[in-house]
Amino acid sequence: MYLGVGMSTRFDYDRLDIHKAYASVRALTRERREVWAKVLSRQLDGVDVRRIVDLGCGVGRFSPLLREVFRAAVAGVDRSERMLAAARAIPEAETISWIRASAEALPLAEGKVDLIFLFLVYHHLPDPLAALRECARVLTDNGAVFIVNSTVEILDSLRWLPFFPSARQIDVARLPTREEVTHTAQEVGLTLVQQGTVVDPIAPNLTAYAEHVASRTFSTLQLVSDEEFARGAKEFRENPTKARSCVSLRSTAHPRCHRGSVASESATTAIVAERSRRAGKSQYCMASESP
Ligand SMILES: C[S@@+](CC[C@H](N)C(=O)[O-])C[C@H]1O[C@@H](n2cnc3c(N)ncnc32)[C@H](O)[C@@H]1O
Repeated sequence: MYLGVGMSTRFDYDRLDIHKAYASVRALTRERREVWAKVLSRQLDGVDVRRIVDLGCGVGRFSPLLREVFRAAVAGVDRSERMLAAARAIPEAETISWIRASAEALPLAEGKVDLIFLFLVYHHLPDPLAALRECARVLTDNGAVFIVNSTVEILDSLRWLPFFPSARQIDVARLPTREEVTHTAQEVGLTLVQQGTVVDPIAPNLTAYAEHVASRTFSTLQLVSDEEFARGAKEFRENPTKARSCVSLRSTAHPRCHRGSVASESATTAIVAERSRRAGKSQYCMASESP
């Protein structure tokens, strides 16, 4: 169903049944779990992680992985009732605390959280500055924020984008640049540690990737018209090898974690930043991937 009117760039996860497709089609594969587990443990090496907030946790794809990687207590926070209902139904649900709340007003005490993880959430935030200010408030002195998000810089690497003529314009309007993210983080007292590109093996081959795209779980594709979506999804399915990537998909944030060639990767930008320890502030990390 087409949600957009003109150049709409906002997507409400409670308006449709997208939580169902999200929980099935976009469930993490073993390969993706391995990639993100390695990125997380490498980038946050040295941070004492005991309490984690998976902010904008959605259906809880990452919450159990975070718990496993850091052997820490995890709270999944999301403002969407439907996404959280799906999260509460995952097999590991009882090991996670689920909280319905907005990132801009976290019902959490000051200085208690060691790691805040935002995966594909930043571009949905109505007020990123207020959200990051809340993150800084609840973080411990040596805590970290790890942001994974598409940024304008990686658009040319998205192999599905050329099949949907208005998608680029939609994403340019709603995605941040890396600089915007780091600037916003700095405004709340967070300091950049590192940024780079992570290559995320979304699907094992282009045919599977075309099917993935056809599930319409990318919020960008909810914002193009039904006609444009149907045409683009059909064309991609029929000619998956036409999909091209304009940029070299080379990981800079960490070495490739998977073997062999994966035809349908997405470039991701990784930024690691630090909340000045001397000033008693925390650190953040940032990465971006396909929406
Ligand atoms: C693209 S989904 C990503 C979900 C999850 N991080 C994942 O990767 O599976 C974005 C999620 O962010 C949530 N979200 C968006 N804005 C939010 C806000 N201001 N506060 C809390 N959650 C928010 C949405 O409800 C949605 O579940």
